[in-house]
This record gives sequence, C-alpha cells and structure tokens, in this order.
Amino acid sequence: MHLPDQLRTPVPLIGAPMAGPGGGRLAHAVSAAGGLGMIGVAATRDGGWIREQAAIAGADGTPYGVGLMAWALPDAPDQLEAVLELRPALVSVSFGAYAGPLGRLREAGILTATQVGSLDDLEAALDAGADVLVVRGAEAGGHGRNAMATLPLLQLVLDRTNLPVYAAGGILNHRGLAAVVAAGAAGAWVGTAFLGCVETDTSPRARQALFAATETGYGRVFDVAQQAAWPREFGGRAVANAYFDAWVGHEDHLDEAARERHRKAVQAEDFSTAHLYAGEGVVALEHELTAADVVAEFARALPSA
Ligand SMILES: Cc1cc2nc3c(=O)[nH]c(=O)nc-3n(C[C@H](O)[C@H](O)[C@H](O)COP(=O)(O)O)c2cc1C
Repeated sequence: MHLPDQLRTPVPLIGAPMAGPGGGRLAHAVSAAGGLGMIGVAATRDGGWIREQAAIAGADGTPYGVGLMAWALPDAPDQLEAVLELRPALVSVSFGAYAGPLGRLREAGILTATQVGSLDDLEAALDAGADVLVVRGAEAGGHGRNAMATLPLLQLVLDRTNLPVYAAGGILNHRGLAAVVAAGAAGAWVGTAFLGCVETDTSPRARQALFAATETGYGRVFDVAQQAAWPREFGGRAVANAYFDAWVGHEDHLDEAARERHRKAVQAEDFSTAHLYAGEGVVALEHELTAADVVAEFARALPSA
C-alpha cells in the first residue's frame, strides 16, 4: 500500500465528514491535533457555505478534507465547483452516482475517497478510480448500508486491493484504531467518537441527548419524515427514540401529521421524536471533550505511545 503524503498525519485518523455536526471548526480542531479533519456537506448547502467553512478549517494553512454526497450533486453543482477551486487535501464523494464527480476531482489532481458498504460497492469504487477506500460497516453513524459489519468487510476488502483503506464504523478509541491498523488498514475514519466535542455545530441540548443514548436504530424513518431525497438503498443509523420505534417498518405510511410532529420536535429539540444521527459507539460518549482530547486518546494506539 502506498500512502499519499496528504494522509501521512501524526495520528492515522480521519475525522469523518458529518453533515450537521461537522463543519469547519471541528475539521480544523481534528487536523490541528494530528488527524485529518473533514467538513461534512449537507445536500442543502451551497458553494458559499463550503468556502466559509473551508476558511475556518484551513486557517493557518491547516490541511482539511471535504465530504460530499453524490446524490445531492445534480441539484447542487456549485458544491463540486467550490471544492475544485479550494483543492482540499482529500475529497470524499459517497452514496449515489459518484463516478463522474470523482473523475473530475482526480483530473484536477485532487485526492479522492469513497465509502463502500459491500463488495459490490468495492467493485464500483475500483471502477471509478477512487484513490482511497473507506470501508464503512453497518455499525457506523449516519447514512450508508446496513449490509455488513466493519470487521468482516474490512478483511474482505483488504484481501482485494492494495489501495489505502480506512476503516469506518464503530471505531471508538485507541483499541479500535490499533485493531484496524493491525489488520492492514491505513487508519480509521471516525465520526461518532467526535460527536460530543465542543467544536461540533451541535447544540448543548443535543449533546446531552447523545450522552444519555443507550441504543441506535437503522432505517429510513427520519428521511421519510423530512422528505429527504436519500436513495432508498441508504438508510441512516441514529439514536433510537420513541418516534423511530413507532415508525420503523411502517415508513410508507408516515403521513403529514407525523411529519409535522417531527418538524416541531426538531425546532423544540425534543429528542424523543427528533433525530440524532450516531453510530453504535454513541454509548461510549459521556461528557463534552475537545477534539484534541479525542485525537490524543486515539494516539494511544501508536507504537511509541
Ligand atoms: C451525524 C453524522 C453525519 C454524517 N454525515 C455524513 C456526510 O455528510 N457525508 C458522509 O460521507 N458521511 C457522513 N456520515 C458518515 C461518516 O462519514 C462515517 O462513515 C461514520 O461516522 C463512521 O462511523 P462511526 O460513526 O461509527 O465512527 C455521517 C455520520 C454521522 C454520525
């Protein structure tokens, strides 16, 4: 495996793009602490927002990455234009028809990654010419597949490619990082472990709900509630709550009254109904930390630590 210079960070850790909590502040803090932080771009954001966040993430020449969602790009072409102009250290394009955008980024000489959740996804990523692969297991927070867990998929993928592979999904601390690096991964791509950080764009009340969480659920309930245009094949993993439990399996019957209840709960930050995307590792979050604390904990996996 050849690791590109951009990924030779002091700690082999990428702060996963997380639309919502993960803006420029979190990306900057992760990179400044020794990982590579990424900005998560929601479908509704425009190129101006990306430029603003990139200025924060990249202050003082700090490297950062940007994560785009492929399905959103046809309706938000200026997201890709902004990224082509900004030339971040790494750009991921995942979930949907990413081959075209990935090709444009590669032609511009920008390092690219995509998240794979199955062996079919691996084939597609290899065909598209991704430079870096992210094996995203079903334990992971946010959207993706629920097909395979991180560890089996990681082993299968590592046997099939010499590209740099990052493991994502359920990597909570230095133990998980040490495990995936021992298996042959270039490092870990971590989202949930950063969700309690003070640098996230999450409200204090949402953070408290994350600290209290005991269980997650996977499905399309919150996408249907918000009429989000996520392709059906990608559900989301979120903290399980009463609303999720009531509607999972009955998403096609979720009506306007139920959507309205969800909208109001989001405004009121009532997390018995509103969503909080997070992976299985959310149970490990207990209190607010800085991103530097979290990166330092992961750094305990380094041989010299
Ligand atoms: C709140 C949240 C938002 C996310 N948003 C994005 C996103 O915008 N783009 C993306 O490619 N992945 C997104 N993800 C998935 C992450 O990139 C990553 O795969 C996942 O967090 C790794 O698993 P972990 O949460 O167990 O660490 C998100 C994850 C979370 C928890």
